[in-house]
Amino acid sequence: MISFLWAQDEKGVIGKNNQLPWRLPEDLKYFKRKTMGHPIVMGRKTYESIGRPLPGRQNIIITRDEKFEAENCIIFQSKHDLLNWIHQMNDEVFVTGGAEIFGLLMEEVDRLYVTKIYEDIDGDTYFPLIEWSDWQLVSCEKGLKNEDNPYDYEFQIYERK
Ligand SMILES: NC(=O)c1ccc[n+]([C@@H]2O[C@H](COP(=O)([O-])OP(=O)(O)OC[C@H]3O[C@@H](n4cnc5c(N)ncnc54)[C@H](OP(=O)(O)O)[C@@H]3O)[C@@H](O)[C@H]2O)c1
Repeated sequence: MISFLWAQDEKGVIGKNNQLPWRLPEDLKYFKRKTMGHPIVMGRKTYESIGRPLPGRQNIIITRDEKFEAENCIIFQSKHDLLNWIHQMNDEVFVTGGAEIFGLLMEEVDRLYVTKIYEDIDGDTYFPLIEWSDWQLVSCEKGLKNEDNPYDYEFQIYERK
């Protein structure tokens, strides 16, 4: 099955200058907790923004660049090949962005893990349009707010209706 996992501000901002537009260490911990042991799929830009494969997870990158190389990662050049690989996995596969890859797999995704940050944060990359009425909220957990995590935010999980 395919899950999306991302964090967004109240307008849907997810990135700025190929980075995350906020510092929210509690969300990075959540990301790690949820994805550990499962394959993670990301676009070439998001991979380059992280700069290395994330440990304990099979890292999958999608790019049109036939020469692209990344050590210890699986690389696909098309949605078709990526989906074939995902469908033969008997595992929850986490698509972790960015915007282009969420858009690419919007029809195929089964579950959403979204960290909603209730703040207006400046950015240049937005989560693509999503038909929220197709989705049912199954879990909602308020995030810890403190000096290091200075936002109101929630960890939400949605299943396709
Ligand atoms: N807040 C969050 O949860 C979150 C999560 C992830 C990322 N982000 C942010 O999002 C931003 C990056 O997102 P983005 O949309 O610019 O880039 P992206 O989705 O990470 O990567 C886009 C790249 O994916 C490849 N690609 C896209 N469609 C493809 C297809 N059909 N076949 C083969 N390859 C394909 C292309 O790579 P090539 O150009 O190499 O061909 C394309 O340039 C950054 O700011 C990042 O920090 C935020």
